[in-house]
Amino acid sequence: MKVRTAVFPVAGLGTRLLPATKAMPKEMITLIDRPLIQYAVQEVIDAGVERVVFISARSKRALEDHFDRTPELEYQLEESGKDEVLEDMRRLSFMCDITYVRQKEPLGLGHAVLCAKDVIGKEPFAVILPDDIIMSKKPVTQQLIENYNKTGRSVVSLMEVPAEDTSKYGIVELGEQADKGLFRLDGMVEKPKSNPPSNMAIIGRYILTPEIMESLEKTQAGSGGEIQLTDAILEVAKKDGVYGYLFEGQRFDCGNMYGLFEAVVHFALERDDMRDFAVEVLKNASSKY
Ligand code: UTP
Repeated sequence: MKVRTAVFPVAGLGTRLLPATKAMPKEMITLIDRPLIQYAVQEVIDAGVERVVFISARSKRALEDHFDRTPELEYQLEESGKDEVLEDMRRLSFMCDITYVRQKEPLGLGHAVLCAKDVIGKEPFAVILPDDIIMSKKPVTQQLIENYNKTGRSVVSLMEVPAEDTSKYGIVELGEQADKGLFRLDGMVEKPKSNPPSNMAIIGRYILTPEIMESLEKTQAGSGGEIQLTDAILEVAKKDGVYGYLFEGQRFDCGNMYGLFEAVVHFALERDDMRDFAVEVLKNASSKY
């Protein structure tokens, strides 16, 4: 069955980026000239997804407004002959069909995904954590969908992380290799305090089969007192099998200031209209400090 829908859990508090996120959603933080969420939504559209579901919360209005029409702005741009910008703004508001679901309390990522149960129904779907921004030739969501199409099973994105960082991620135990970069998963544990099963971490891109919802309904609060998506995926893995895919691309954790800064530098250097300027700034700065 085609992956038509992408769920974006955006109801978290974003405490690692305070004070920036005190009055503004984390997903609205800008990377060069557009908010994080716009990169992530563009990624799923490029991968052929037709419908976007935001699992949202109080104080996330700016996110909804960003993808809505702004007649007064459009009028201004039209009057002042800024046709190109006007076209960009219109394209943005018609980018995709968005459904909003409220997560009333931040009970964890697993709980946020469960909030999409009725909207999803019996179809496979993507889950995107928009603070993981991934620079790649082929959208990572598409890489995962291709592997889902091969296996008919849930597929999570994997990345190798330094041994000392394993306690920050969901860490998997790799099983049999099924294809290039594709492994059956024999186990997984969220933020292991000791003895991680490997140094392969789950990153914020998933294709999940609808069985995950039943599993989430039974999942108790785990690591950090939150309902963890990893725990529910493990249950699905035991019953039906789940795969992990070592994606091609560079991932930036824009949920913290170091990852965000790194992303700004790399994205500027990738852009034709910014590269020379960015190189100059970096050269000048490094000779000064
Ligand atoms: P994070 O672990 O990054 O948490 O959530 P956070 O609250 O966003 O940020 P910090 O750690 O306080 O800085 C991973 C993803 O899951 C969503 C977040 O919005 C983010 O996209 N999430 C998390 C929810 O939607 N609901 C929750 O209850 C928890």
